[in-house]
Amino acid sequence: MTEHVPVMITEVLEHVPEELRGWAVDATLGLGGYSEALLVKCPLLSVLGIDQDPQALRLAQERLAPFSSRFRALEGNFRQISALVASLPEKFSVILFDLGLSNLQLTERERGFSFNEDGPLDMRMSPLLRKSAYHWINNSSPQELSEIFRLYGEERYAWPLAKGIVRHVFQKGPIETTGALVSVVRSILPAPIQRKMGGHPARRIFQALRIAVNDEIAALEEALDAVAKIGADPCRVIVVSYHSLEDRVVKHRFRSWKQEGLGRELTRKPLIPTEAEIEGNYKARSAKLRVFRLETEGEGEYGN
Ligand SMILES: C[S@@+](CC[C@H](N)C(=O)[O-])C[C@H]1O[C@@H](n2cnc3c(N)ncnc32)[C@H](O)[C@@H]1O
Repeated sequence: MTEHVPVMITEVLEHVPEELRGWAVDATLGLGGYSEALLVKCPLLSVLGIDQDPQALRLAQERLAPFSSRFRALEGNFRQISALVASLPEKFSVILFDLGLSNLQLTERERGFSFNEDGPLDMRMSPLLRKSAYHWINNSSPQELSEIFRLYGEERYAWPLAKGIVRHVFQKGPIETTGALVSVVRSILPAPIQRKMGGHPARRIFQALRIAVNDEIAALEEALDAVAKIGADPCRVIVVSYHSLEDRVVKHRFRSWKQEGLGRELTRKPLIPTEAEIEGNYKARSAKLRVFRLETEGEGEYGN
């Protein structure tokens, strides 16, 4: 089975007291690393795990079978969190978001997320999504593609890349695979620029496409808006993000929750992984963890 090493799990667990009862929601179940850690640490807590990827859900369910009396799994997009938690017998007092991709998605060639592997241009986290990366690459105008690359990839060469890709599609036909897209990117950017970019020349546009395909930023905004209304009092909202766009959304939401008197931020600055964690798991390097406690004033520390 593909491994996914849970990122900043020690710091996540520090914000979940052992004596907590009731329900926690793991909105990004993945391979179940966070859920398992919660179930082990908090013997009175039950966990609802949500993922839009049925493959991840199946593997996590197998892994968490020993906890079946305290664990449920649901397939769905966390942007519909209100509907997804409607079946719980009570409000949830913890919600976790560990954003982005699991190792399973990243390393399976056929999912089309990796610029290091040659697979179909897919990048959908859920098979229910209509438009894959193939659609975006082969049917967008240069303006649309450039906007995606700039906005979601913060790609400095967004315009030449978008223009070059659309010209390539017009002259030679659709770009079918991740490998073909990487070759086109390499053919557009002069070698000295590629060397200056530091990292893979297609890294930022792969990130941008993935965010566009899965509408990741809007989904996060909608989910956080809903959580502020439906969490228990108190409820800990724990978010691990991996790039500045996601972190910006979380930071701004937490700031406005504070201004609206919905509670307090428990991490004045985002927590980041220790050097030892990054050494052992390079994928953790860009992680940022923020925690907000939604509560009306005067509630006890560990009320459910
Ligand atoms: C980084 S992984 C989570 C890993 C997990 N914490 C673990 O330790 O195994 C992120 C997971 O969130 C899922 N995901 C991302 N966006 C989602 C969304 N909008 N709705 C539901 N699931 C989502 C992905 O499919 C992926 O499986």
